Amino acid sequence: MTQNFQALVLQQQDGTTQASVQTLTTADLPDLDTTVEVAYSSLNYKDAMALTGTGKIIRQFPMVAGIDLVGTVVECKTGQWKKGDSVILTGWGVGERFWGGYSQVQKVKAEWLTALPQGMSPQQAMTIGTAGLTAMLSVMAIEEAGVKSGKVVVTGASGGVGSMAVAILAQLGYEVCALSSRPTENQAYLTALGAKEVLAISEWQTKMSPLAGQRWAAAVDVVGGPILAQILSEINYLGVVAASGLAASTALDTTVLPFILRGVRLQGIDSVMCPATKRNTAWQRLLSDCPSAAYAQVQRLVSLAELPQLATEMMAGKAHGRVVVDLKTS
Ligand SMILES: NC(=O)c1ccc[n+]([C@@H]2O[C@H](COP(=O)([O-])OP(=O)(O)OC[C@H]3O[C@@H](n4cnc5c(N)ncnc54)[C@H](OP(=O)(O)O)[C@@H]3O)[C@@H](O)[C@H]2O)c1
Repeated sequence: MTQNFQALVLQQQDGTTQASVQTLTTADLPDLDTTVEVAYSSLNYKDAMALTGTGKIIRQFPMVAGIDLVGTVVECKTGQWKKGDSVILTGWGVGERFWGGYSQVQKVKAEWLTALPQGMSPQQAMTIGTAGLTAMLSVMAIEEAGVKSGKVVVTGASGGVGSMAVAILAQLGYEVCALSSRPTENQAYLTALGAKEVLAISEWQTKMSPLAGQRWAAAVDVVGGPILAQILSEINYLGVVAASGLAASTALDTTVLPFILRGVRLQGIDSVMCPATKRNTAWQRLLSDCPSAAYAQVQRLVSLAELPQLATEMMAGKAHGRVVVDLKTS
C-alpha cells in the first residue's frame, strides 16, 4: 500500500463547498478499526448534493465524500476481516458523517463492510453501488408485497436507481414502463436495458386525480412529489409502490383513497441503515438477477478530478446511468 495517496477533500469557504484532489497519508485518516485500499467508488445523488453543497449533507469539514466504495482489506483490528478480503461499503453515514470512498485508502468500521459476492467484479459492484442496492431493495419490496408479474412503472428511469431497477425488473420478467423527463434522448438506452415502453414524465406532472384508472401492478419511484401522488392513484388493487427518492420533491400531497379502496401499499426504501442480513441477501440477488449486459450500458468510468463537474450535471437532472470512480488510476 502506498504511503501517500490521493483523495477528493471537501472544505467550506465563505459558506460554499470547495472540492479538491489532495495528497494524504494514513495519519490524516480517521481512527477507525479497518483500513481498506479502495479500488472504485461511485457518484450517487447524495454525493452530488455533498459535492455541490446542496441540502446540508455534510456538516463537518474537511470531509472526504463518497457514500460507496469497494476494495481490499489492508488491516482489520477487530479480526472480522482478514488482509486481502474483497469488501463493499455503502451507506452507514459514510461520505456524510464519516470519511468516504473518494480516497485511495480509507479507514472504516469493520461492521459496515459486506463481502464482495464471489463472481462479481469490483467494477460491477460500484456500477451497482448504493443506487443498485436501492433498486434491488425496491424489487424485493415489490416481491414481498406479492406482486410477482405485471406492469411496473419506474420513475427517474435514466438515473442510477432507475436504470438499475429497469434492468433488474426486466430480467425478472416484469413488463417495465420507464418514465423519463428526457424520453426521446433516453429511448434507446432504456429499451436496451429492457423497458417495454418509455413515457414522458411531463404527462404525469399535469394530472391530479385522487383515484385514476388502474394501470400498474407496482412502481419504483425515485422522484416523489406530484408524480408519486399520481402514480399511487393509478396502482392496481393490492399493488405496491416502493418509494426511495426525492429527485423532484420531498412533498407528497395525496389522499387515503388508493390505500382504503384498493389496498395499495406505499413501501419506503432505505439503503443507508439497511440491516446486514438484508444487505447480504440483496447483494446475492444482484449477483444473480442483474443482467450482465446491463453493466456496460449503465457504467461510465471517471477519475476523482472529474467528480465536481459531474456532480453539478447530476444536480441539474442530467445524470445518465452510473458513474464509477476509478481510484486505482486517479
Ligand atoms: N432511500 C435510499 O436509500 C436512496 C438510495 C439511493 C438514492 N436515493 C434517492 O433516489 C433518488 C435518485 O437517486 P439516483 O442516484 O438514481 O440519482 P440520479 O442518478 O441523479 O437519477 C435521478 C433521475 O431522476 C430524474 N429527475 C431528476 N430531477 C428530476 C425532477 N426535478 N423531476 C423529475 N425527475 C427528475 C432524472 O431521470 P430522467 O431524466 O429519466 O427523468 C434523473 O436521472 C434521489 O432522490 C436519491 O436521493 C435514495
